[in-house]
Amino acid sequence: MAQRGNSIIRDLEISEVIAVLNKAYADEWLAYYQYFIEAKVIKGIMKDAAIAELTQHATDELRHANMVADRILQLGGTPLLNPNEWFTHTNCGYEEPEDFDVVSILQDSIKGEQCAISVYSQLADMTRNKDIVTYDIVSQILADEVEHEEDLQALHDDIVEFIADIKQSIQ
Ligand SMILES: [Fe+2]
Ligand SMILES: [Fe+2]
Repeated sequence: MAQRGNSIIRDLEISEVIAVLNKAYADEWLAYYQYFIEAKVIKGIMKDAAIAELTQHATDELRHANMVADRILQLGGTPLLNPNEWFTHTNCGYEEPEDFDVVSILQDSIKGEQCAISVYSQLADMTRNKDIVTYDIVSQILADEVEHEEDLQALHDDIVEFIADIKQSIQ
């Protein structure tokens, strides 16, 4: 535990920061797996573009899990040790892919990113001016999640438009 590092945290219980970071940590692992498996099972038009995007997101979520785990350890906490705990701690849950069509998969993923944005925005509010290091980490992750939502939404809209154009041209 970083003793001097932790002494600069003001007006915030360190145990509370560790608890909320562990919830975010559970979210990151579930998001990682969701993107991993979506990239495997996805079907349909322009799926190669979607696979590239989903695979990049999986890499980013795993990187986020790393960043959050390292911060939990710095604070003197222990990152969740058992994957069973991901489901009891998660904020955003796990959206099991049911329809493997590219549009449905992208819609599921957009929902997940919107939840992540809410979670990290709350974490930024909680730590702003109180725990500068955690604030910096959650702000970096928040910026990635905002970019993720935008990338998925843009791809989703392109595909929906492409499908509409095809339908129109064969009428
Ligand atoms: Fe993430
Ligand atoms: Fe994300």
